[in-house]
Amino acid sequence: MQTTHTSWRSRFGSKMALLHSLLCILCLVGPVLSQDMPYEEYMAQIQACPKECHCPPNFPRAVYCDNKGLKSIPKIPPHTWYLYLQNNLIEVLSADALHNATSLRWLNLNRNKITSEGLEEGVLNAMSHLAHLYMDDNLLSSVPSPLPASLEHLSLSRNRISKIPAGVFNGLDKLNLLDLQGNKLMDDAVTEVSLKGLNNLIQINLAKNQLSSMPLGLPTTTTQLFLDGNNIEKIPAGYFKGLPKVAFLRLNHNKLGSNGVPKNVFNVSSILDLQLSHNQLTEVPLISSGLEHLHLDHNNIKSKSYSQSTYCFFLIAMTHLSCRFMSVSFMHLLNRIVYQRRIL
Ligand SMILES: *[C@@H]1O[C@H](CO)[C@@H](O)[C@H](O)[C@H]1NC(C)=O
Ligand SMILES: *[C@@H]1O[C@H](CO)[C@@H](O)[C@H](O)[C@H]1NC(C)=O
Repeated sequence: MQTTHTSWRSRFGSKMALLHSLLCILCLVGPVLSQDMPYEEYMAQIQACPKECHCPPNFPRAVYCDNKGLKSIPKIPPHTWYLYLQNNLIEVLSADALHNATSLRWLNLNRNKITSEGLEEGVLNAMSHLAHLYMDDNLLSSVPSPLPASLEHLSLSRNRISKIPAGVFNGLDKLNLLDLQGNKLMDDAVTEVSLKGLNNLIQINLAKNQLSSMPLGLPTTTTQLFLDGNNIEKIPAGYFKGLPKVAFLRLNHNKLGSNGVPKNVFNVSSILDLQLSHNQLTEVPLISSGLEHLHLDHNNIKSKSYSQSTYCFFLIAMTHLSCRFMSVSFMHLLNRIVYQRRIL
C-alpha cells in the first residue's frame, strides 16, 4: 500500500512537475513568439529598460521615452528595434547613450532641440539596420552625415536646413522617401552633387523652402515631387524628360507665370496629378490626355485663353459649356470636373 501510495504520489508529482515545466516553457516561449526574441535577450532587454521609459513586456523590442521632458537620451538597451523619443527637450544625439542601440530599425526624434552640432560623430552611421529616421521639428542646419546605408525613410521637415553635404546620400540605395519640407534650402543646395546616390528615391518633398528654380539632379526614379510654397518662376523646357516616372507634381503657391511654362513642359504622359494652384498663370497649360487631376485655382487665367487649350475642348465636350463662359471664379470647379473624367 505504502509503495503504491508513494508511486502514485511520485507519479502525480512528476506529472505536476511536467505541467509546471510546460507552463514555464510557455511563459518563456511567450515573448519569443511575440517578437522572435531569445529568452536571454528578452531578460537583458527588460532589465536594461531606462527608468524614464516604458518597455512593454509583450513588445520587448520597443522602448517608449516620448513626452517625458527629457533633456538627454537615456542609456538605450541593446536589443531595441523601435525607439520613441519624440516630444522631449533633447539637444544632443549622444554616442554614449546610443552606444548599444546598434540594432535600431526605427528612431523617432521628432520635436526635440537637436542641432547639427549636437549630432555626435558617427552616431547614426553605427545603426546599420536603421530603416526609418524621423527628426522633424528640430534645429538641424544641415542634413545629418554620415547616414546608414540601410535607410528607407528620412524625414527632416521643419528644421533650419540650408546645406546638403556633398555625397551624403552616396550608397543610400534603399532610401525611397526624403522629406525636407519647411527648411531653408536655396537653389545652390539642391544639386546633382548633393543628391547623388539616391538611386531608388520615390518621393521627395522640398515644399516650403527658398527655391527660385526647379531643383537639378533629382533621381530618375522620382515619382512624387512636392515643391509647394517656394519662389519658382519658371520651368526649363523638357525638365520632366529627366524624370520619366514623375506622376504627382505639386507646385502650388509659387510664382509661375505662363511665360515661365514652356508649351509642352507638362505634356508628359507619366503625370497623373498636377497641382498649380496659387500661381500667376494667365493661360491653362497644355497637358497630356492621361492627366487625372489638375488644380489651377487662384491664378490669373482669363477666359479667352481657354480656346488655346486641348483641355478646353474636353470641358466643352463634357459640360456643353462654351469657353466664353469660363471665368476665374469658375476655376474652382475645374478640379472636380477633371476628376470626373475618370468616372464618366
Ligand atoms: C552596453 O552594454 C554593455 C554590456 O551589456 C553594458 O555593460 C554597458 O553598460 C552598456 N552601455 C550602455 C551605454 O548602455
Ligand atoms: C503632346 O505630347 C504628345 C506626345 O509626346 C504629342 O504627340 C503631342 O503632339 C503633344 N501636343 C502638342 C499640342 O504639342
